[in-house]
Amino acid sequence: MTIKRSVVLGVGSALPARVVTNAELAEKVDTSDEWIVQRTGIRQRYIAGDGETTSTLGLKAAQAALADAGLTSADVDLVIVATTTPDLTFPSTATQIQAALGMAHGAAFDVQAVCSGFIYGVTIADKFLASGSHRRAIVIGADTLSRIVDWTDRTTCVLFGDGAGAVVLEAQDQPGDVKTDRGVLTTHIRSDGRHGSKLCTVGGPSSTGTVGTLTMEGKEVFKHAVGMITDVITDAYQATGFSSGDLDWFVPHQANKRIIDSSADKLGIAPQKVVITVARHGNTSAASIPLALSVAYADGRIKKGDLVMLEAMGGGFTWASALMRW
Ligand code: ACO
Repeated sequence: MTIKRSVVLGVGSALPARVVTNAELAEKVDTSDEWIVQRTGIRQRYIAGDGETTSTLGLKAAQAALADAGLTSADVDLVIVATTTPDLTFPSTATQIQAALGMAHGAAFDVQAVCSGFIYGVTIADKFLASGSHRRAIVIGADTLSRIVDWTDRTTCVLFGDGAGAVVLEAQDQPGDVKTDRGVLTTHIRSDGRHGSKLCTVGGPSSTGTVGTLTMEGKEVFKHAVGMITDVITDAYQATGFSSGDLDWFVPHQANKRIIDSSADKLGIAPQKVVITVARHGNTSAASIPLALSVAYADGRIKKGDLVMLEAMGGGFTWASALMRW
């Protein structure tokens, strides 16, 4: 009996024009290239300028993903945008992008799960496509955290960057064998709101009438990250019978190289299978995984038939994994 699986047809990404190096940040706050590289692996980040917003970056990423898939927006009936930094409180960034893509059909909505948002978006899209209610989805991760960072707080402002990435998913009939099927094989999303205050904004639309400013207990986040990441990847292994040795690529959320290295090490994933873009992009929140995917896909590392594990952990706390056969 065949089953419907969500197969990646195309990938795209977009970055702001302006690169900000660690050296440039060191002119503004009391930090150094050495400190930032040693603690995080970050060397530079892209920061949105005038006219660049979450929706403009998300639109470019979506257009690139559609072009890569050889499709137009007429072929898609679902647009999901994972973001924490929408252009407006409402309407959603997804409906803005839907309109900019020239779509008056289908459905578009935002998902808010901070750094885990892209995998939450893929999970939701996969459920819609597997149910038969929708045929093709664009899932976009797009964020401009630079707009909510306190640029005088050296403990956070050095970590984040802006960008967007997108994938086009199509419901395809597959034989139903998790070992050989193409597409999304399993997804696992988790949250625990008791940790909310460890990574959050101070203020927001309904509490202060402002967008709020990002604040983080970095050590606390670090302490929980590796355990949560490994738990949710273990869930994916249990659901499918795969193990770390079977993976072709591990594409983690790009928050901090030390978190990525520790997670890969604990899971027994070989370093050469880990896609790392944090040095160039910084932490772009919901955009980080599709940005990393698009780099590894464009340079020919990720190929048709490869087994790819995505994982993320972020504010909420939220954490998630998705295992797919490319
Ligand atoms: N430059 C120079 N010194 C700094 C900076 C900076 N940018 N930031 C902090 N310091 C100082 C601190 O003030 C402290 O000084 P003190 O010892 O005199 O008090 C010292 O460096 C050590 O600070 P710690 O906070 O203990 O540094 P730590 O090794 O924990 O590294 C970091 C901080 C990088 C934030 C780390 O905790 C971390 O990576 N946490 C994970 C959080 C994360 O990645 N969040 C991203 C968002 S969440 C997500 O996406 C999962």
